[in-house]
Amino acid sequence: MSAMPIKERETVSVGTEGSSYSCGVCGAEVKIVRKPVQDPKCPTLLCCGKPMTLTRPLTIEAIDEVVAGRYGSFAASGGFREECCGGRTDDSGYAVDLGLYGEADLGLVPELALDLSRGCGNPTSFAELQPGETVVDFGCGGGVDVILAAHKVGTEGRVIGLDFAPEMIERAGQSIAKAGLQDHQIDLAVANLTSTGLPDASVDVVISNCVMNLCPDKEAVYQEAFRILRAGGRLAISDIIFTESIEPDLQARFQANWTGCMAGAMPEHEYLELVHHTGFTVPDVVACHLLSPEALDAMASCPGPQFTEVPAVADMAAIADKLASVKFTANK
Ligand SMILES: C[S@@+](CC[C@H](N)C(=O)[O-])C[C@H]1O[C@@H](n2cnc3c(N)ncnc32)[C@H](O)[C@@H]1O
Repeated sequence: MSAMPIKERETVSVGTEGSSYSCGVCGAEVKIVRKPVQDPKCPTLLCCGKPMTLTRPLTIEAIDEVVAGRYGSFAASGGFREECCGGRTDDSGYAVDLGLYGEADLGLVPELALDLSRGCGNPTSFAELQPGETVVDFGCGGGVDVILAAHKVGTEGRVIGLDFAPEMIERAGQSIAKAGLQDHQIDLAVANLTSTGLPDASVDVVISNCVMNLCPDKEAVYQEAFRILRAGGRLAISDIIFTESIEPDLQARFQANWTGCMAGAMPEHEYLELVHHTGFTVPDVVACHLLSPEALDAMASCPGPQFTEVPAVADMAAIADKLASVKFTANK
């Protein structure tokens, strides 16, 4: 491929200073320099004046930085729900608009938490939470599932919400304060899911809603969940998966789009095998729905197009009907 002049080299703003990436458009090596012309919390890799396609993956640290930065900015904005024709739309692809939360659930959750909700399922609807249980929500975001879990485990139970975006944890705290749960035991903490700081074998259930696809080291996250669960404890997970393997080149191009839900999504069989491999029972898939074209568009730029660019049209067409939201449980 013939090299084209790189005019936008200095706009690359993620990764370790001095490291370099290959531009998939022109093949040139692009050095990472700390001179962002854009919001450093919402970086875009540019080369040849266009969003750059990586031909080798970002480091785990760089991905975490981008994901936490984008969700942090989204939380700071107060969030939003998709609207169309003056009302709510069910095209957003998010659980909160798809009817995956019943009216009774929605009535328990303040508007702020609904505006920040970016889940692809409703894990408390299949986690079979019991009064008195201790539940940890991995990647709690604005707190929608923390609030619902607290209602289910009651005042004798405990709910811990973890997220690595401090702004999300602040917003979740505001929503919990509004939700009238003063008598409940709820803790929120800023933490990376690979290292929660919770004691071994101290919780009954780990729930998570559309978060693991954003974690570049899924094995480390599931090992951490395994470590903190008591023997017999369980996972109740909603997440995004590919229904089949996709081209490595295509997956590599999506890597420039972390926080969009396909960048870190795995084929379903590999994903469930990874969960089993970390020590859990064979996952029991309780539901799975393919993303509609509208949902795929929305999820591709999660948490919103002002935070995450939409991938190229041809790349999106290549994965139509191949991205799904899966819900499963597994036991330690
Ligand atoms: C798609 S949102 C979903 C939020 C929430 N579960 C919901 O249903 O609305 C993903 C959330 O996971 C958090 N997150 C992603 N990777 C994480 C990690 N490695 N450690 C902690 N939080 C993470 C993000 O900051 C974001 O708030």
